[in-house]
Formats: sequence, C-alpha cells, structure tokens
Amino acid sequence: MVSLKKVSKSFDNGLSFAVKEIDLDIRPGELLVFLGESGCGKTTTLKTINRLIEPTSGKILINGEDTSKTDPVNLRRSIGYVFQEIGLFPHINIAGNIGMVPKLLGWPDDRIKSRTDELLNLVGLEPDKYQDRMPHELSGGQQQRIGVARALAAGSKIMLMDEPFGALDPITRTNLIEEFARINKELKLTVVMVTHDVLEALILADRIAIMRSGEILALGKPAELISRPPHPYVSELLNSPRRQTEKVNRIIRGDNKNDL
Ligand SMILES: Nc1ncnc2c1ncn2[C@@H]1O[C@H](COP(=O)(O)OP(=O)(O)OP(=O)(O)O)[C@@H](O)[C@H]1O
Ligand SMILES: [Mg+2]
Repeated sequence: MVSLKKVSKSFDNGLSFAVKEIDLDIRPGELLVFLGESGCGKTTTLKTINRLIEPTSGKILINGEDTSKTDPVNLRRSIGYVFQEIGLFPHINIAGNIGMVPKLLGWPDDRIKSRTDELLNLVGLEPDKYQDRMPHELSGGQQQRIGVARALAAGSKIMLMDEPFGALDPITRTNLIEEFARINKELKLTVVMVTHDVLEALILADRIAIMRSGEILALGKPAELISRPPHPYVSELLNSPRRQTEKVNRIIRGDNKNDL
C-alpha cells in the first residue's frame, strides 16, 4: 500500500502550493490515475512518491514504512518510473537503457539479456532490430515504449507512470494501453499513472483521482464518478469524450459542421 498523508509542496517557500494536503491510499494491485489539466500538480504529486521531489510537509508511507527515513536511491530503484519527458540515457543503447536497473542490482548478464528480450517483445519492438540502436535512432513513440519496458525491467511491484503513452499515435496508443492493462493485471502491479487524457483514464483506471489546483477534487471508480459526479467540474471533464463522440457522429451523418 502506498499512502500519502497530507502531502503538500510549495516551490516558493510557502507563498503558493503546487500540491495541497493530498490524502490518499493506493491499494495493492490497484491502477490509480491522476487526471487533471496542465499545471494542476499531477507530476509533482507523483514525484513525491519516489522522492524525486521532497514534500514541503506531510509524509508518504510504502507498506507502512515512512519513505523519508529510507535511502532515496534504493527507494527509486525499487519503484518503476516512466517519465513524462521519456528520459532515456542518450549515450547508452536500447538494451543498456532497459537493463540499467537490473545491472545496478547486480543481475548476471544472461538474465539481463533474456529480460531485455522479453520486454522488447512485450512492447512490440523486435529485440534483434532494436536492442543495439541508440535512443535518437528511435521515433518518439518507440522511445516511449522503451521507457515503459525500462520501468518494468527490475520487476518492481509499484510503478509510477507520468503520461506514459503521450507521444503515441492513436492506434499504437490504444494497442499499448490494452497491452499494458493486461500486463498490469497479470503482474498485479500497483500503478499510479498520470494523464490528462480522459478516455485513457476511464479505460485503465480502477479509481480516478481528479486534481484541480493542487488538490484532489474527487476520488472514485470511473463509473461512480460519471453516474454521481460530486462536482460540476467532474461531470464536465468526464463527459468530454462522449461530447466528442457525439460530434463525430454528427459529422458522419453529414450535419453541417457550422452547427456543431
Ligand atoms: N521545480 C519547480 N519549480 C517551481 N515551480 C514548479 C516546479 N515544478 C512544478 N512547478 C509548478 O507547480 C505546478 C504543478 O506542476 P506539475 O508539473 O505538477 O503539473 P502537471 O499537473 O503535471 O501538469 P502537466 O499536465 O502540464 O504536466 C505548476 O504551476 C508548475 O509551474
Ligand atoms: Mg506533468
């Protein structure tokens, strides 16, 4: 279990707060999505969990242990992390990027190699073709898939994923989202995922935490939040894919675009 207890973060000595008193329990095996518009504090909250950002106040417990009392480097190695900005090591080839944490953890080379092959296949990139390439020799979407593979590499049970599918085209994205949902259930991972894509949140999440201005405005299962929105903003946000579908249907029917 990952527990956030009144976690706050100010970047300007308390003049303003990017994250305000977040209280949240993420259950083992759960996929929890932080959903909200740009700048609402999603990435900041996520980064407090593996101490890439230290909270200004409040604390985080992982399986009952206060993370502020653990070694931050060991903590980060024990939690898979997919960065919003991808963050592959530019001078290390793909196999090296994926095998980075297992190598630091002292795995033997043959085990790292078979794990790397397995993960490349999992994210749909043939090992023979891609393992020796450098990150800049891959497209943005392929790099993003390597980011997901790298986060899974050491077999962490907890994964933090910041917009993991952001740079992908819709078809690859849908495939990878479905693939990830399958992997996630199979490995029983506890996943905290950030997105501003409402449809992605609705499809993947066991629960959604809707953030606004650094606070959790609503928390619940997708169906609950849609059927009983606790706030008008929640309803407006979660119904946006439906409104888009209705527009598409009107276009298909040949209605005048100006009437949309
Ligand atoms: N290192 C920093 N120094 C100062 N302010 C910061 C820093 N990091 C983030 N912020 C501010 O904190 C707020 C929350 O940022 P955060 O990155 O958490 O947003 P986000 O919800 O992830 O947005 P996006 O969807 O655009 O990635 C923003 O107003 C941002 O400008
Ligand atoms: Mg962000």
